[in-house]
Amino acid sequence: MSGHRPSILVIDDESGILDTLRILLKKSGFEVATAQGGSAALEAIKSEAPEVVLTDVRMPQVGGLDILHAAHDQDPETPVILMTAQASLQTAIQAVNDGAFYYIQKPFSNDDLVAICKRAAEYRQLRSENKHLKNEIRRRDRSVAIMPIGKARCFVDVLKLADQVAPTDSTVLIQGDSGTGKEVLARYIHQLSQRNDGPFLSINCGALPEGLLESELFGHVKGSFTGAVRDKDGLFAAARGGSFFLDEIGETTPATQVKLLRVLQEREVLPVGSTEAIPVDVRVIAATNRDLEEEIRRGQFRSDLFYRLNVFSLRLPKLNERREDIPLLAESFLNRISEGRDHGPCTLSQDALDAIMVYDWPGNVRELENALEHSAILTRDREIKLDVLPSRVTEPKSQPLVDERPVSNPTLDAIERAYIMWVLQAQGGNKTRTAEALGIDPSTLYRKLARYDSDSA
Ligand SMILES: Nc1ncnc2c1ncn2[C@@H]1O[C@H](COP(=O)(O)OP(=O)(O)OP(=O)(O)O)[C@@H](O)[C@H]1O
Ligand SMILES: [Mg+2]
Repeated sequence: MSGHRPSILVIDDESGILDTLRILLKKSGFEVATAQGGSAALEAIKSEAPEVVLTDVRMPQVGGLDILHAAHDQDPETPVILMTAQASLQTAIQAVNDGAFYYIQKPFSNDDLVAICKRAAEYRQLRSENKHLKNEIRRRDRSVAIMPIGKARCFVDVLKLADQVAPTDSTVLIQGDSGTGKEVLARYIHQLSQRNDGPFLSINCGALPEGLLESELFGHVKGSFTGAVRDKDGLFAAARGGSFFLDEIGETTPATQVKLLRVLQEREVLPVGSTEAIPVDVRVIAATNRDLEEEIRRGQFRSDLFYRLNVFSLRLPKLNERREDIPLLAESFLNRISEGRDHGPCTLSQDALDAIMVYDWPGNVRELENALEHSAILTRDREIKLDVLPSRVTEPKSQPLVDERPVSNPTLDAIERAYIMWVLQAQGGNKTRTAEALGIDPSTLYRKLARYDSDSA
């Protein structure tokens, strides 16, 4: 018991005995609280949250067994020691069967009693260290398992912000195009949060009609609409103690937005058809692939809800803004796809790798994952070649685009860049042929490509 003075609650109905035990245990290194009689004891168990409980078995009203159960309700790891006379031995034995740490028979020596109390305190300490370690291990396991992949600067910057906001209870808004990994990021935040023992629940707000969405979110009471045959908890209630991921928040109607705003402001939900609000204990993470500020301008999204959600906002880059992560992502997806198959993971031929490096990936990471799965199914050997990639990935675009979304007055630089990327794609990523087609020296091409890479990183 190095340094730490373990706390012990001593319970008896005789004040003389309490005094003796207090002095003895204090001298032996304990922080001692006492309670005279059972009802005082039940209070003290709650208020003191002692590490060890030492109690007499036979007291009027509340007996040793009640004390044991109350202590374990409070914290199942609390060792409870019973002091018993011959007459109540049966009860003491039953208490041990019910999970008491030890019973000591009266009359006992001071030394024996102190030794047992010390053992109980050590046991308690080991248990809590053990629990702590287990939590720590689980936390690490999980964070490794779902670590979002990517080392591009623009992506790592987002992860760092996520690391910082995760342990707070702050509402987070994740913005990013379809398939950029919004849900992956939301789960990552949950795993790194203090709520990681609680549930991670999610709902796609765009997938349900308004009425159903509200009943899913907030719950309903029996009879509040046809089909509501019994009371139902909403997801806000079910996610208690955990995180709630509101996906596609931009798809909600203004009416639902008002209600969501209320939840975030008041921290309580009103089930459909009910007048009784239920407190909400969830961390909200919302995501959207819409430009919410634009939606606000168009009158489709409430600005007050936006400000509530936008307490901390994260914007995921598009895959074509972090092309350097394509090989990493590809490797990890190919490894995952091959899990459970007899042969090892597929690899990409140089041509195929070149092609996926220059393709535009409008569907972002999800599209890359699907394309690789498609290819891994079609390929005859373990190397994925150009011919099994989806044709949209390998076929050159029919016309050079300045950008996916053309800007109104592109600079000459932007046009040059877009044209070079188009030719590169048309040549299947082959840089020598691209340089030839462009009529420039390969070293010039390499230099330009390196500059584009570092611009977007
Ligand atoms: N950084 C990443 N590391 C590993 N896998 C990723 C990463 N980003 C996305 N993925 C994978 O890509 C797919 C799409 O990710 P996710 O569902 O999180 O995207 P999203 O932004 O929610 O897409 P949508 O807008 O279509 O709902 C998932 O299968 C996910 O596992
Ligand atoms: Mg999603």
